[in-house]
Amino acid sequence: MTNSVQRAFDLAAEDYDRTRRKLVPGFDDFYRAAIDLIPFPHDQEIEVLDLGAGTGLLAAFIAYSFPKARITMVDISNEMLERARERFELGGDRFHFEVSDYGTAPIERKYDAVVSALSIHHLPDEQKRSLFQRIHGALNPAGVFVNAEQFRGATVEAERLNHDRWLTRVRDLGVDKQDLAAAVERMKFDRSATLEDQLEWMRAAGFRAIDCAYKNLIFAVYAGRK
Ligand SMILES: C[S@@+](CC[C@H](N)C(=O)[O-])C[C@H]1O[C@@H](n2cnc3c(N)ncnc32)[C@H](O)[C@@H]1O
Repeated sequence: MTNSVQRAFDLAAEDYDRTRRKLVPGFDDFYRAAIDLIPFPHDQEIEVLDLGAGTGLLAAFIAYSFPKARITMVDISNEMLERARERFELGGDRFHFEVSDYGTAPIERKYDAVVSALSIHHLPDEQKRSLFQRIHGALNPAGVFVNAEQFRGATVEAERLNHDRWLTRVRDLGVDKQDLAAAVERMKFDRSATLEDQLEWMRAAGFRAIDCAYKNLIFAVYAGRK
C-alpha cells in the first residue's frame, strides 16, 4: 500500500506539528469549531473514529475535551501515525491506531462520531462521495460526522483569490520559506472539492442537520447528524 500521498506524509511527519500554526491561519478557531460540532456531553463515553488522523492533532483536542472518549486513529502513513502513538503513549487503551487507506477499507465498527481534519481532500470526488455514504452507515443513531477540511473555490477566480489570500496570510504569519515550499509541494496531491459539492454529498449520503460552522480562506468545518 504505497501511494504518493502516503509518501508525501511519510516525509512530512517529522516537521508536521511545528509548521501547523503558520500554515493554517486561524488554527485554534478551526479545530475549536470541529470540537464544538460534536454534540455530546463532554463527560459521555463516546466512540470516535478519526480519518487521516496524522500526528493526532484533532484527536488530541477531542481527547482533552471529551476525557472519556475512545478514539481510533486511522492513517495511510505509518510515519504520521507513529507521532500520534508517541503523543498518546501514556493514554492507555482509550487510543487505537490503524494504518489503513480509508478510501477503500471498510469501516468495520459503529461510532458516535466520525471526524476528519484536512485529509479527505486527497481522495478523488467519487471516493469522497462513497466515503460519506460509508461514514453515514458506520454511525450510531444520532451520531455525527465532522469534517474540518480544505475546499476549492466555486469558480476559478474564487479559487485563485482564496489561494492568494492564504499565501499572503501564511507569509504574514512568518512561515519559513522551506516549510511553505514543502507544503505547496504536498498540495500538488490535493483534490479539493467545492464546499457546495461537499455539503451536497453530505445530503445525498442521508445526513441531516448539516451545518457549516467555520469558513476562512481555503478552510471550512462542517458537520451532519445521522
Ligand atoms: C494534512 S494531514 C492532517 C492530519 C491531522 N488530521 C491534522 O489535523 O493535523 C492529512 C493526513 O491524511 C492522511 N491521509 C490522506 N489520505 C488518506 C487515506 N486515503 N487514508 C488514510 N489516511 C490518509 C495523510 O497520510 C496525512 O497524515
